[in-house]
Amino acid sequence: MTRAVWGSRQGFILSAAGSAIGLGSIWKFPYVTAQNGGGVFLVLFLAMAFTFGFFIMISEMVVGQISQKSPVGAYRYFGGKVWSIVGFIGVLCGFLILSFYSVVGGWTIFYIVNSFDSTFLTSNVAELKQVFDGFIMNPITPLLYHGVFMAMTVGIVLFGIQKGIERISKLLMVMLFLLILVLVARSLTLPGAFDGVYHFFMPDFSKLTAGMILEAMGLVFFSLSLGMGCMMTYGSYLPDENNLANSASWVIGLTVMICILVGLVIFPATFSLGFNPTEGTGLTFIVMPAIFSQLGGGQFFSILFFFLLFVAALTSSVSLLEVVVSFFIDEFHLPRIRISIISSFVMLILGIAASLSLGIWKEHTFFGKNIFGLLDYMTSNIMMPLGGIMVSLLVGWIAWAAVKTRLVNSGMPVFKLSVMKVFCRYVAPLLILVIMLQNL
Ligand code: TRP
Repeated sequence: MTRAVWGSRQGFILSAAGSAIGLGSIWKFPYVTAQNGGGVFLVLFLAMAFTFGFFIMISEMVVGQISQKSPVGAYRYFGGKVWSIVGFIGVLCGFLILSFYSVVGGWTIFYIVNSFDSTFLTSNVAELKQVFDGFIMNPITPLLYHGVFMAMTVGIVLFGIQKGIERISKLLMVMLFLLILVLVARSLTLPGAFDGVYHFFMPDFSKLTAGMILEAMGLVFFSLSLGMGCMMTYGSYLPDENNLANSASWVIGLTVMICILVGLVIFPATFSLGFNPTEGTGLTFIVMPAIFSQLGGGQFFSILFFFLLFVAALTSSVSLLEVVVSFFIDEFHLPRIRISIISSFVMLILGIAASLSLGIWKEHTFFGKNIFGLLDYMTSNIMMPLGGIMVSLLVGWIAWAAVKTRLVNSGMPVFKLSVMKVFCRYVAPLLILVIMLQNL
């Protein structure tokens, strides 16, 4: 069986950007930035994304490209059997992330559907919180939406790389950019919008803390889809001649641009209407509807916003499922259609448990966390950083000769290469270890 390849360079870049841009950029980024003092955090996030994020992304892509394998095979190709365990952890991580990611994906559909009537048209935040909590804790409704979201994800992955992921990513990513520009225009023209812009951009370095540095690094991981072999899998569908440094810069540039645009929607609107941006996880699902209720045409903008969140989440969930599917295809030569359906079914069930753990199963906790919290914690704070350390070590110490040749041929300047080597050998593993230890 010949390996699937991307149809074009733009197709690859947009698909990888589609994976990166998701709930991380649109839901997590604004509230984490708000909680960490706005501008200072933005500076940190940008600095990390373009150094740390850049080198790890290239590392993942190049390992996938040279080996032409998804994570398990890719690690085995360079490091032998023992290293393939790292790939397994990545696949497992994909299973676990997608289970709860799809639950939140389902919430976005619920919010689109209900934006069509007046359920959310109130500026009473307490009431909106009640609607949100009532919904996510309900034992039935969120499961149905979770099922719909998962079904859409499989529906795309079934069609494979070019006809499924690449085609849908091109369409949805372009749509996402246009939608977000409409929302930015609306938000920036609100009275008093400038206060929000100021808070978002103006770094106040007196607020800088060590915790923020760690927080920024964690967000860079999650929002650039790094550390579990996702970019490795996408890289494995690349033909030889791709200029990886350039592609990675594009993916990071696009993701960061979306983060900034989302900030320019959320901060001006929040400040203009006198809400508190440090609301936390509720910023999107609770405060945004309150904001829309106060705008002319709020219902329209609400549908637009949640649709955008849904689109972004969908192209990310597709990338997570692809890691798992690609593993079964590479290792066991199973047919794509069958394995897509089977693995998403397992995730569906695990996701049901995650969703119920927010409501009727609240009492069942492990290490003080419900199932949803546990899945999130284990993947973001343990498995992904571990994956980041391992890919850096692999590239820096074991695969360096091959990686170097490949990157030189694809036009990466010698200076950048030497920085990358030091980074992968020492800086990244040590830095990530520090985040992990801090988080544990
Ligand atoms: N980056 C996506 C987001 O921001 C989530 C995601 C997709 C992801 N694939 C991943 C996170 C792989 C970690 C690893 O929503």
